[in-house]
Amino acid sequence: MKIFLDSADINEIKTHQNSGFVDGVTTNPSLIAKSGRNILETIAEICALVDGPVSAEVTATDFETMLTEGRKLAAIAPNVTVKVPLTEAGLRTCSALADSGTKVNVTLCFTAGQALLAAKAGASFISPFVGRLDDIGKDGMGLIEDICTIYANFDFDTEVLVASVRSTQHVVDAALIGADVVTLPPKILTSLYKHPLTDSGLDAFMADWKQTGQSIL
Ligand code: E4P
Repeated sequence: MKIFLDSADINEIKTHQNSGFVDGVTTNPSLIAKSGRNILETIAEICALVDGPVSAEVTATDFETMLTEGRKLAAIAPNVTVKVPLTEAGLRTCSALADSGTKVNVTLCFTAGQALLAAKAGASFISPFVGRLDDIGKDGMGLIEDICTIYANFDFDTEVLVASVRSTQHVVDAALIGADVVTLPPKILTSLYKHPLTDSGLDAFMADWKQTGQSIL
């Protein structure tokens, strides 16, 4: 399962890039706003840092402007994936961009029916938002299972990109189901390393080691 970082913060991306676990990056208009920086410059910098796909989202809501924005974003770098919302105009934009060879990530997916349409529109990625579904008392991971089953039934190439991840359990559940990608807020990627027994076990090893007076080097 690939791990993407859900961030538009260059410093955060640089830090996590060094871990070797970052296979791509996703951004959205809220993350760009949070960065306080220009979208075109930010996406160009992220694309130069990261080899894998970098999702850059359109901000128009009508087909013609979305398509123009999508083409402009795609021209920034070869690893840009254009992100469009799961609306009728977004799916039309997805088809048009996919037909011309641009990778598209269809975002804000909340039902399996929407995911089916995105695959038929030629999306490279579908982004179901599990955390936001859980927030309203729905079963986010149940949606991931349904989409994975539907895509397998019809051999769709669209990759299931689990978004709006809120916990390390979401990551494990996505891996158990066999989702293709998870996009993680940096703090969730950090907490994947963590376990209190790892920390206390290491403390005990270090204390015992010190008593030996030895050095490996
Ligand atoms: C994914 O591409 C989205 O940017 C993101 O995962 C949304 O997460 P949120 O629900 O925490 O805002």
